Amino acid sequence: MRHHFDHDGRRISYLERPAAGERVAGTLVLLHAFPLAAAMWEPQFAALPPGWRVVAPDLAGFGESAPGASRFPGIDDYASDVLALLDHLHVDAAVVGGLSMGGYVAFALQRLAPARLRGLVLADTRPEADSEQARATRMKTFETLDREGPAGVAESMLPKLLGATTRYDVVASVRSLASSQRVEGVRRAVFSLMSRPDSTHLLRDITSPVLVVAGDEDEITGPDVARQMHRQVAGAELALIGGAGHLSNLEQPEAFNLAVSRFLASHFS
Ligand code: MLT
Repeated sequence: MRHHFDHDGRRISYLERPAAGERVAGTLVLLHAFPLAAAMWEPQFAALPPGWRVVAPDLAGFGESAPGASRFPGIDDYASDVLALLDHLHVDAAVVGGLSMGGYVAFALQRLAPARLRGLVLADTRPEADSEQARATRMKTFETLDREGPAGVAESMLPKLLGATTRYDVVASVRSLASSQRVEGVRRAVFSLMSRPDSTHLLRDITSPVLVVAGDEDEITGPDVARQMHRQVAGAELALIGGAGHLSNLEQPEAFNLAVSRFLASHFS
């Protein structure tokens, strides 16, 4: 179900599936990838354990959330909005799952407010900042955005976002979600992605449970990146999802949901 609230005069929109049953295990916040929106977590809403309240915000400028207002957009702006969401929901600490850009936001939360994190699911993401080459590619993304809009950005990213095994219907829904985003939201996100700081040093200080997930066909943040991150976080667990590319939650939802459900059950019940 969709909800909105106002934060600093801006509208923040989120999807929520309330917990069911007598025992509420906690809140799981899911943070979406670029250039998508909270709706990418649709396959998780029905399938994750019913005792969990599952909340997925549209990050600023995506979906139904207003764009950020800061002059120099940064990844921390998204993290501040997530903290505002936790306040709005009266949640002291949540398990936070982020996929790719959502993972970068989760790292920002780990840096800014580690006490608000009960655990982390780091899916198809990487702790490093952009390389010089990645920044050059971002500049091309700005050009594509100016020339062809979000639909052009979506088209240029699709071959890398999805694995070879992925079915046509998933390709079509990712294309549609990415194409329907707003120019300003996408532009501010590209600035935020290319200016994000390196988070590698944070990994050794994480004390909450961590699950690292990656699609085994992910060409952006593949299994090697996931294995390395897994080695850097003491006690972390690793789930490689067969037959999935970068959007592992959408491409192989059953395997993704099983990995997350097991993680939640083993650490938080
Ligand atoms: C994403 O899926 O969020 C993007 O691939 C992140 C990025 O471009 O670094």
